[in-house]
Amino acid sequence: MTAPKLALATAPVSEATVDAIVIGTVQNGAGVALAPGGELVDAAFDGSLTDLLSTLGATGKAGEVVKLPTLGKLPAALVVAAGMGKVDGDITAEQVRRASGAATRSLSDSKRVATTLSSVDLHAAVEGTVLGAYRFTGYKSEPKNGQLAKVDLASPAEGDAKDHRATLKAATAIAEAVATARDFVNTPPNDLFPASFAEKAAALAKAVGVDVEILDEKALRKGGFGGILGVGTGSTRQPRLVRLTYKGPKAKKKVALVGKGITFDTGGISIKPALHMEQMTSDMSGAAAVIATVVLAAKLKYPLEITATVPMAENMPSGAAYRPGDVLTMYGGKTVEILNTDAEGRLILSDAIVRACEDNPDYLIETSTLTGAQLVALGTRTCGIMGSDEFRDRVAGIAQATGEGGWAMPLPEELRADLDSRLADLANVTGHRWGGMLAAGVFLREFVSEGTPWAHIDCAGPAYNTGEPWGYTSSGGTGLPVRTLAAVLADIAANG
Ligand code: BES
Ligand code: MN
Ligand code: ZN
Repeated sequence: MTAPKLALATAPVSEATVDAIVIGTVQNGAGVALAPGGELVDAAFDGSLTDLLSTLGATGKAGEVVKLPTLGKLPAALVVAAGMGKVDGDITAEQVRRASGAATRSLSDSKRVATTLSSVDLHAAVEGTVLGAYRFTGYKSEPKNGQLAKVDLASPAEGDAKDHRATLKAATAIAEAVATARDFVNTPPNDLFPASFAEKAAALAKAVGVDVEILDEKALRKGGFGGILGVGTGSTRQPRLVRLTYKGPKAKKKVALVGKGITFDTGGISIKPALHMEQMTSDMSGAAAVIATVVLAAKLKYPLEITATVPMAENMPSGAAYRPGDVLTMYGGKTVEILNTDAEGRLILSDAIVRACEDNPDYLIETSTLTGAQLVALGTRTCGIMGSDEFRDRVAGIAQATGEGGWAMPLPEELRADLDSRLADLANVTGHRWGGMLAAGVFLREFVSEGTPWAHIDCAGPAYNTGEPWGYTSSGGTGLPVRTLAAVLADIAANG
């Protein structure tokens, strides 16, 4: 998508020559109330804005968008009141983000908008505004909706113009990285397959001076990447391993990112049911997120060294496909007995994790649409976060702070024995369905080098919205967990 242009407003919002002005509303006991920032708009209505909104049925509840014509009281034709719900103390960043998203989502026919939500929280308003305006229309002959072109942002009272410009720049880059990840996920699997995905990733990386290494099937064979090859050879589109390295200024820490890049998951010989199989176009969301994140880190010049190691394969059933019963020798030499070809993510990831650990990273963060069990355990909006205890909790805390959401989950010791294999070092699945998300994490742990702080983010549900859009979350690819990854990197840059 093309993101709207955002600029800090130079004139008061009541003078803005725009199509619409976005203001915030909140729920306060009796009814709707204005959030800070709406004062000048209210003044243009002689202080009767809450009465008017209330007449229109506004309550200020979260997700609500009420539009009010200005009838010449302001240069803008419309006031758009976006609900933020109940406020307990301060309005939270996530309230601002969601309201901003809901507002721009409803303004697809406006070209130019001014928002006052940015005076409450500039960073959150920018993210919400850009992400709410996100559209993926590349495959429509005639896109139904127009694209928001320009947004004027009212400045917060705190901080000076220089701070505001820096915040605008960072928040815009983060939102655009989320949009990049969404674009990858929304690109259909006939156009996004390992070779084309690798090329698109390389182009983005090169544009910001990030080093690119692509291993094709020949190089993968030579290197002994048995997991990626085993999963990938059922498809006519051969697998890839992409490595993107960003070396930031004064880098003190080295971070390895790994993301699952299954460009389509049929399940392979252990084929999935037809119903909703098309959703498996999203099975490269982890890859999309880590690619977008290194590119973002380079744009914002994080003082870190970051390498994204991204295995890409298409899991297809065919005469050449790997089978239940096969034993694969993974990169690094561990052997895995395949009991179910639909547990393919962990196989390509193990190769990638072992490769990533060869660089001796200070931290390893891996993210994947790894298990349906994530959805069973935590629902559609909460990632499961596993790994080494301390780092896992740190990542989970940050995931919650960004508004993406995530919950620390255990790697129960007893599950390891359930992955024992009759033939090989381990089996790719347990013989039961208990704790499926955790069992996948236990499998991955076998491939992380001893002592490396690591986190595994299972984003199977949250990375792909199969329902209606809400807040700043579009349907289809959501771009999770880009903002969590970016915030963890920023935290490592600041605190080690
Ligand atoms: N890509 C799927 C997981 C998935 C499910 C992602 C739903 C997004 C939404 C993964 O490769 C898979 O098929 N996992 C199996 C594992 C099982 C065979 C142990 C699953 O979850 O059923
Ligand atoms: Mn699968
Ligand atoms: Zn999969």
